[in-house]
Amino acid sequence: MAGGPARQYNNRLIRWVEYRMPIFSAVEATIGRDMPTPKNLNYWWSLGSVLFLALIIQIATGIFLAMHYIPNGAMAFDSVEQIMRNVNYGWLLRYVHANGASLFFAAVYLHILRGMYYGSYKAPRELLWIIGVVIFVVMMATAFMGYVLPWGQMSFWAATVITNLFSAIPLVGNGITTWLWGGFAVDSPTLQRFYSLHYLLPFVIFGISLLHVWALHVHGSSNPVGISTRSKQDTIPYHPYYTSKYMSVIGLSFIVLAFLVFYEPNFLSHPDNFKPADPLQTPANIVPEWYFLPFYAILRSIPDKLGGVVMFGASIAILFLLPWLDTSRVRSARFRPTYRYFFWIFVLDVIILGWVGAQHPEGASLLIGRLATAYYFAHFVIILPFVGWFERPRPLPESISKPVLKSGAAVAEAAE
Ligand code: HEM
Repeated sequence: MAGGPARQYNNRLIRWVEYRMPIFSAVEATIGRDMPTPKNLNYWWSLGSVLFLALIIQIATGIFLAMHYIPNGAMAFDSVEQIMRNVNYGWLLRYVHANGASLFFAAVYLHILRGMYYGSYKAPRELLWIIGVVIFVVMMATAFMGYVLPWGQMSFWAATVITNLFSAIPLVGNGITTWLWGGFAVDSPTLQRFYSLHYLLPFVIFGISLLHVWALHVHGSSNPVGISTRSKQDTIPYHPYYTSKYMSVIGLSFIVLAFLVFYEPNFLSHPDNFKPADPLQTPANIVPEWYFLPFYAILRSIPDKLGGVVMFGASIAILFLLPWLDTSRVRSARFRPTYRYFFWIFVLDVIILGWVGAQHPEGASLLIGRLATAYYFAHFVIILPFVGWFERPRPLPESISKPVLKSGAAVAEAAE
């Protein structure tokens, strides 16, 4: 990440710092003028920046919420009401934090799908991908524990359902569950430890994200064509070209977040969470936040608790193996006509799983959920390896610039 050619800065203060600690040139080498970047990156490559921004928003709003929140079963729900009604701009902090989590997940799902479409996980970026999946797992844990904190009905019952899953593990399961709870049921000790971890994990995510970007900078970004950059002609500096190009996406993300916060702040929340937690009354349908629904559908598609937990774990763990399950030597789906087709079926399958996750697990939706779960795994373990072996990819261009320059020349010729 660090390094890059020594730069001369005009500002005296910057020169003073740079001489003692070359932090400015390190930043320039990472996201600045000294970071050669493929010249053909499209808007999908902006999502990493959006993710960093979302993480910072979550940490900043979370720190202020934590100043007023009380992690105790008897007071948590009321302390959140207090934030909403009496703390100056408390409603804004809370709505930005709650909807910011949705923005974060929407961006991470698009970021992952971008990686899958353009084969970003292929050598030499396997470790970069693996670090990404680790971030995703920690994000899921953080979001789950955050959802428990308001201590509404859905918070309480989501915590009960999910922590109970550990009890399916043979021999040690019950012990693990009691240990997680800090007692014999979901109660104040559970809330307190979830709060402590929910505060800690975003900083862990931040740390792992730095490793992610470090790994990225070893071989640089891939690109929509998927071939390596061969000459200086193929690259441009990250700043000002991509910083300015991606400002539009960052602006758009802010607009979407602002729309949710100011016009539909509770659109993505569940009505049951406006009632205080009641251990004696189970809600009719316990559903997680939208971003967990596909995985929840997989969990419930197996009529056995342990089986469901194993499938749920496997549905995430399989992402770690993706670089080795995809046997194609061509990276980008642009040159893979068969894979491209299956990629979109996979996206549809995950959307169907999301729909199933929100339904009662019975009748047609249960059957659809089972079929969609089977397809989810088939995509990774059957379709990807076989398509890679049998597909005939389209010919790759020799370099990133050549087709562009060629067509540029063709346009110029046609104009003459
Ligand atoms: C907090 C979460 C994350 C942050 C802040 C983050 C940040 C970034 C940034 C800044 C980039 C470079 C710009 C771009 O290509 O968009 C990047 C690239 C990449 N990320 Fe992430 N990322 C996160 C999560 C993930 C996850 C969950 C995965 C996969 C499971 C992942 C996989 C990748 C891959 C494969 C690339 C290289 C793309 C390419 O060059 O083609 N990232 N990430």
